[in-house]
Amino acid sequence: MTSRRGFLGAAGGLLAAAGTSISARAASARAAAGTEAFFGPHQAGIVTPQQSHCFFAAFDLTTEKRDDVIAMLVAWTNAANRLSEGRTALPLGDDPRIPAPDAADALGLAPARLTVTFGFGPGLFIKDGKDRYSLAASRPPELADLPRFNGDQLIAAKTGGDLCIQACADDPQVAFHAIRELARLSYDSAELRWAQTGFISKPADGSTPRNMMGFKDGTQHPADIDKSVWAGDSAPAWMRGGSYLVVRRIRMALEHWDRTKVSFQEETMGRHKYSGAPLGLKNEFEPLGLDRNDRDENPVIAENAHVRLANAAENGCADILRRGYSYNDGANFVAERWPPWRQGTEYDAGLLFICFQADPRTAFVKLFGKMAKFDMLNQFTTHTGSGLFACPGGVQPGEYIGQRLFEKA
Ligand code: HEM
Repeated sequence: MTSRRGFLGAAGGLLAAAGTSISARAASARAAAGTEAFFGPHQAGIVTPQQSHCFFAAFDLTTEKRDDVIAMLVAWTNAANRLSEGRTALPLGDDPRIPAPDAADALGLAPARLTVTFGFGPGLFIKDGKDRYSLAASRPPELADLPRFNGDQLIAAKTGGDLCIQACADDPQVAFHAIRELARLSYDSAELRWAQTGFISKPADGSTPRNMMGFKDGTQHPADIDKSVWAGDSAPAWMRGGSYLVVRRIRMALEHWDRTKVSFQEETMGRHKYSGAPLGLKNEFEPLGLDRNDRDENPVIAENAHVRLANAAENGCADILRRGYSYNDGANFVAERWPPWRQGTEYDAGLLFICFQADPRTAFVKLFGKMAKFDMLNQFTTHTGSGLFACPGGVQPGEYIGQRLFEKA
């Protein structure tokens, strides 16, 4: 396993290896302009260094016509490229008698490294037993419905979707603008099913950001990104260079967490709260050292600590690239509790968990299947939303997202 530092270092090494190549020069010119390329061998927004904001949206297809879906994907592709470059749909609302082609809420804002990542849910291939677009035979085995996990309390209105769009940017308005512009292009073919905003606040010193539980989150990354993240050579052509996205909306019982001793929180996580170091160690980026025992021969990092249960080496190399965001939806009054003195207003805040992998069956499902049963963290978390999407390989100019899927089927 490599640390985040190692991961970033490796990415830097790749850039260095590209040397003065055109693509490296183009990448640095784009970075200076605050844009991320939409076109490329992989979709942007997967291994792209994480932006500070995310607007994640899941859509249901309402059309029965395959051509409508294709036309929508063509429109989405063109718009996503335009938005990533920070360009507004033109002409601006010159004619006040008709709706303007752009909501104008992002006029004058920088591109803010916007990335738009598209995913295809199971419902694109088959829904309620119906093969609406003659794609059922092309459903990849990796896109197997997620099982019901222990403790799941999924809300239907925050779960599933035939398609998803993950818009990430360093400006929340730019991210929302992207979703809104894409959604308006698809009013006749798809409707918004659910959406979730998220954010990460990065410390000025470049250290790992903290989640709402106050722990550094994003220390550990897969040792081999190519192997762990991108669909393998056996994948269908349209998924080559693609990845599978699992999203979970995880509410945290913050009121309960805040009354828990720091030592218990650290035991739960398996890391120190302030330094982020593995329990008993000093440096955040040191290996976990899972075989260390204390004086009584008990493991320093408990058997049911989060990082042990989530660790790839402990799970037959099941590895995921986490790219989650904190979410904060304010607070809700919870009235359905008994006795009445347990009723009250509590935060609806937590983690918009997003991860990418080559095969969810041997990655997220394997990891979380065990964690859902044994992880000490479960007493503070509730999974309320979920989704699984196949994110096709990257798009080249002149192509539309998922084109190879529709051409094949
Ligand atoms: C609210 C829920 C969650 C919280 C607060 C949380 C928090 C953390 C923290 C603080 C770390 C240690 C720092 C790091 O390596 O980034 C970590 C590691 C990790 N978490 Fe979570 N996590 C949550 C849910 C999940 C879920 C659902 C999965 C799904 C499989 C997951 C997978 C991982 C993995 C793979 C690691 C790295 C383990 C290693 O060191 O090898 N986490 N998490």
